Amino acid sequence: MINKVASAVNAELDRLLSCPKDAPYAKLYEAMRYSALSGGKRIRPYLCAEFYMICSGKSDFSPALPYAAAVEMIHTSSLIHDDLPAMDNDVLRRGKPTNHMVYGVATAILAGDTLLLKGCETAASNPYMTDSVNSAAAALTARKACGMMAGQQTDLLSSVFTATERELIRLQSLKTGCLLSLSCMLGSLAAGYPTDVAESFGDVYGLLFQMTDDLLDCDGTAETGKSRGKDERDHKATFVTLLGEKKTRDAVSALCARAQKLLSPLPDCEGRDRLIELCASTAVRKK
Ligand code: IPE
Ligand code: IPE
Ligand code: MG
Ligand code: MG
Ligand code: MG
Repeated sequence: MINKVASAVNAELDRLLSCPKDAPYAKLYEAMRYSALSGGKRIRPYLCAEFYMICSGKSDFSPALPYAAAVEMIHTSSLIHDDLPAMDNDVLRRGKPTNHMVYGVATAILAGDTLLLKGCETAASNPYMTDSVNSAAAALTARKACGMMAGQQTDLLSSVFTATERELIRLQSLKTGCLLSLSCMLGSLAAGYPTDVAESFGDVYGLLFQMTDDLLDCDGTAETGKSRGKDERDHKATFVTLLGEKKTRDAVSALCARAQKLLSPLPDCEGRDRLIELCASTAVRKK
């Protein structure tokens, strides 16, 4: 299913990010497309589409696709900015040179800004939804994107020498949990279903996802498409640098079970089984 959603969202992003003809700012669109259409696992669009299918009982996720594309644009914007020299100063992303390495820092900043706002615009104008649903979706998208940035700011100020486990969980819930819970919530919202289960699942899945990201930074392979060993070198507060690998792996198993349990109030269906499987595969992911 994730591959089906990925192809659909790629086509949607290709359409939404086409540059107006003869625009003197074509480089901005080229930069946005470079990052947005450069692969990526498309976990967030998948969660959005899957929650829509589970909550609506339908197998066609087209009505949720604009929301799925919106959240992927915001995620891509966060990656472009995360890699900037003033932030993580990274040179490799999705197996390719980072945005600023190819287009320069100034264009990378603008590409990130534009993707962020295009994501909000896209969430506000889903043609399958009523104005009131779109207005709720846009407000939620903006609120969760602000949460992600609050997490990034906390991350900038954090250090392995001073952070506590409690502070780290708060930081990671913001920087990663916000966009993952947003993805699940937008799917529920599109289906006209309450968003509380989506939010609590997304929060816990977000922690699971970031913990495994931290593990991959220390023991991943080239398959991640990112540079490795940077968290330790930069004295970043992560689950691995703070708790060590063994404790982090134990926490991953516990979070996986917790996330799976949080799905139980949802309708019993194939989609819910796929999400249970997603948690298990995320716990042992290699990329
Ligand atoms: C990377 O996210 C940033 C984190 C929140 C850890 P992903 O691992 O989902 O990155 P892509 O989209 O697959 O490149
Ligand atoms: C970044 O976390 C999360 C974002 C909001 C982009 P990381 O800095 O650990 O993400 P990677 O490892 O560079 O993908
Ligand atoms: Mg970072
Ligand atoms: Mg980074
Ligand atoms: Mg990381």
